[in-house]
Amino acid sequence: MDKIYVNGQQASYPIYFAKDFSFLLDILEKTGFFNQKICIVTDKNVDHYYGNQLLSLLQTKYNVVYKYVFAPGEENKNLKTIYNMYDFFLKKQLDRQSLIIALGGGVVGDMAGYAAATFMRGISFIQIPTSLLSQVDSSVGGKVGVDFQKHKNIIGSFYQPSFVYINISTLQTLPNRELHAGMAEVIKHGLILDPRYYEYVKLHTKDILQLHLDTLTKIVRRSCELKTFIVNQDEKETGIREILNFGHTFGHAIETLLNFKLLHGECISIGILGAAYLSYQLGNISIQNVHDIKETLLSYSLPIYINSMNKDQLYQQLFLDKKVKQSQLHFVLLSEIGKSFSTPDVSKSAIYSAINYICKTN
Ligand SMILES: NC(=O)c1ccc[n+]([C@@H]2O[C@H](COP(=O)([O-])OP(=O)(O)OC[C@H]3O[C@@H](n4cnc5c(N)ncnc54)[C@H](O)[C@@H]3O)[C@@H](O)[C@H]2O)c1
Ligand SMILES: [Zn+2]
Repeated sequence: MDKIYVNGQQASYPIYFAKDFSFLLDILEKTGFFNQKICIVTDKNVDHYYGNQLLSLLQTKYNVVYKYVFAPGEENKNLKTIYNMYDFFLKKQLDRQSLIIALGGGVVGDMAGYAAATFMRGISFIQIPTSLLSQVDSSVGGKVGVDFQKHKNIIGSFYQPSFVYINISTLQTLPNRELHAGMAEVIKHGLILDPRYYEYVKLHTKDILQLHLDTLTKIVRRSCELKTFIVNQDEKETGIREILNFGHTFGHAIETLLNFKLLHGECISIGILGAAYLSYQLGNISIQNVHDIKETLLSYSLPIYINSMNKDQLYQQLFLDKKVKQSQLHFVLLSEIGKSFSTPDVSKSAIYSAINYICKTN
């Protein structure tokens, strides 16, 4: 069975890659889960496709398996949903030996992980990520949490799963727009860390968009490897992990100003182009590189410009990001395709030129 390891200080665990759920029971047993109570946590959309399939599979080996289903979407990623989850766990008498299975996208993973981290001071959980974004990004690195008031992921913790099980075939039911949004993070991984991977993603657009399972496995696996490589060096996000923020300085600001009307990956796509243009302005990459990145984003139907945004407001919003350190704005830039660095040394005029570049109409 194909797998890679995340070697953190808190815990070390494998990420398995499969094309169905057939290895799950063996892996659970191998990991030491024999007769615990299990609770699947999922959202309504994912439940529709995979909830009962997973429930029946687990029931062939485990006597007590529950399923907790909540309404999908970022708007439900809050403490109210967590409250209902705790309530369910208590009613079903989950105990310290019980296991939570997060089945779904990043919203499910972050919330089920947070509930697992806090219920009885922490019970075991595993991740079965089903969106591209959760497979290549949110299920790796141990960040769990919820939104509070208007603040994204402001309540949370670092809590590692016992393992991550990626069934690539689940991407077949993911809405196209969500698939495209996940590709923004994949393109980011290539741009910041691996030029050959970036080329691969450029060359295999058709296979990826047609959900060719071997190609999807390759990209999900490579993205997990790259994110793992970074996270292993910096579990608590104090140094090198910053480069994963490429495209996110502009991206987060756009996301907030648009009031979450665009998907995260869509905002990151625009943010990637902004950061690429900034890299060009500082003399690191050529304008041809910027055009190439633009074409790659477009080939995955991702947005690259925003209309009708107040440029001064966007500039100011950059400084409101929770990642701004002591009011100093850091940008992750490309030194070349496949290499990146974080720097506070970016002039206001350079930032404005990048803003002009992504705020035009196409
Ligand atoms: N923990 C981290 O390190 C980290 C990193 C990045 C993002 N995140 C978080 O992840 C969340 C975004 O994740 P997401 O994009 O997966 O969002 P999501 O969980 O809302 O999933 C997107 C949509 O796709 C549906 N869906 C998921 N898998 C499906 C499938 N296989 N078939 C059909 N429908 C499916 C969901 O029901 C939802 O409607 C955000 O809350 C973000 O903060 C966390
Ligand atoms: Zn992101």
